[in-house]
Amino acid sequence: MNQRISDTAKSFSAPDYVKHEKLKAWVAEVAALTQPDAVVWCDGSQEEADGLCAQMVQSGSLIKLNPAKRPNSYLACSDPSDVARVEDRTFVCTASKEDAGPNNNWEDPAKMKETLKGLFQGCMRGRTLYVIPFSMGPIGSPIAHIGVELSDSPYVVVNMRIMARMGRAVLDQLGVDGEFVPCLHSVGHPLEPGQQDVKWPCNKTKYICHFPETREIWSFGSGYGGNALLGKKCFALRIASTMARDEGWLAEHMLILGVESPAGEKSYVAAAFPSACGKTNFAMLIPPQALDGWKVTTVGDDIAWIKPGKDGRLYAINPEAGYFGVAPGTSEKTNYNAMATLKENIIFTNVALTDDGDVWWEGMTKEAPAHLIDWQGQDWTPAIGKETGRKAAHPNARFTAPARQCPSIDPNWEDAAGVPISAFIFGGRRSTTVPLVFEAFNWNYGVYMAATLGSETTAAAGGAQGIVRRDPFAMLPFCGYHMGDYFNHWLRMGHRIEHAPRIFTVNWFRQDADGNFMWPGFGENMRVLKWIVERCRGRADARQSTLGWMPKFEDIEWTGMEGISKEQFEALTKVDNDAWREELKLHAEWFEKLKERLPKELALKRELFELGMVD
Ligand code: OXD
Ligand code: MN
Repeated sequence: MNQRISDTAKSFSAPDYVKHEKLKAWVAEVAALTQPDAVVWCDGSQEEADGLCAQMVQSGSLIKLNPAKRPNSYLACSDPSDVARVEDRTFVCTASKEDAGPNNNWEDPAKMKETLKGLFQGCMRGRTLYVIPFSMGPIGSPIAHIGVELSDSPYVVVNMRIMARMGRAVLDQLGVDGEFVPCLHSVGHPLEPGQQDVKWPCNKTKYICHFPETREIWSFGSGYGGNALLGKKCFALRIASTMARDEGWLAEHMLILGVESPAGEKSYVAAAFPSACGKTNFAMLIPPQALDGWKVTTVGDDIAWIKPGKDGRLYAINPEAGYFGVAPGTSEKTNYNAMATLKENIIFTNVALTDDGDVWWEGMTKEAPAHLIDWQGQDWTPAIGKETGRKAAHPNARFTAPARQCPSIDPNWEDAAGVPISAFIFGGRRSTTVPLVFEAFNWNYGVYMAATLGSETTAAAGGAQGIVRRDPFAMLPFCGYHMGDYFNHWLRMGHRIEHAPRIFTVNWFRQDADGNFMWPGFGENMRVLKWIVERCRGRADARQSTLGWMPKFEDIEWTGMEGISKEQFEALTKVDNDAWREELKLHAEWFEKLKERLPKELALKRELFELGMVD
């Protein structure tokens, strides 16, 4: 059980079992600044989570779903102004502006601390400060790291308990002087005595700040997702990418999956895709029946921490313990395993409520239920939706789900040593230009392809359709330092390890002249994945193209799949030199933005590609 310590003078002391003086001192310092009514050290127990959920149900900030339909599950609906990560309010505060790079908003660390101290002064009045110790990765793994989040949001506590290993066991691992990343969070909505709370407290002023040099995170004003669950994007990517650069490892925005052949041989790959490219679907892929005996298992769906092993290979863990996935579009047809994961113990945010106390979102079923309460608490019917264009669920509505509930979870997903990575895969959404799959000639070519990764915006994401945005390594919003230095770190890593993974580019989204997708995607992506893992084992054949090694028609397993003729496959894998000459001009524009830190190697590779584009 958690321990509530509060006295009239509001001096808080830690429970006896906390032996870490630096942690205790930091908590005391934050409590003095933010002036909460109570301090609670979270132990991570089920009782603690149940108690917090019951308290939130009572205050109206959670709805308990029908236990017969969705046991032990809840729905939270946020303030309409707090529904997503706020990239324009996200800062990387390094001593020198150049170190943050053009890919980050920058502010001087001392100046930002002054601003933040002003905002945090008294910001937890009337609330409880929760101390949330968490491990990113299996507790005790040499690849894992520990953080402690201080937050005044009980919603954050119960989500962090799903997303990370959280509680007393982490404090035990920390011992008397273990290292941790301090993560301070407030919704920024203090309560005066007697003041009624709102369902979703937040503040219109928002700051999501990272201090990579001192490895600290301060987040103010938002209760949502990556702004508030600080273990995820803030720690596991922005701070960890800097730690990884300094310490010789990789913190990446990648899923990790296992592929098992009918003979029982297991390979693991890590893959990066910008948003809206089906990353969760790929992580939980179910192979077509005709590829009998091939199996895909899930290690992670979003983030990979990867360190060199003693045998010269790279080993990866999923630092998270849960999925914070986008609900709309998820169905038994598009992602059967995700739907099966969501059966119980889930926190849903901003989806719609059905009349029988369950949840619904656009794309879950073909037909919408006749009546719903939408994410903003209003009546919704298909007719209202049609008339007003209002969605029942917010397009960025989420589920927070324990990873262990995923039917395709890999048996080694919690292995402290990580899983050995055979291949890196990079993919964007490109209607033209980029072939279905190719393998880079070598590590540096692979880094070039990842550094120039582009994806087309979709109407669903709110922007204009079909504009190619560069999202190198799918890390643009998540790299905590200059992107040019990051490319350099990748180039160096490839040469420091003896058995570097092979690097592949994929594109599931190529279209024909009539705008039809040329590749069916989903489970059929297994055919490409099979070619990839067999290439890594030196078994699959390929032809050489200007971009890299590509499968010939006969190198892909077609059993049980109709509809792709040899000619169509050639169109899917065609390197269109005119289109590539245009593409390379865009790469040049992109590199220009990073020029002060762009590795020369990449500029030279661009020129080599251009020279290779001869008809
Ligand atoms: C995510 C993202 O939510 O990448 O995982 O935006
Ligand atoms: Mn992500």
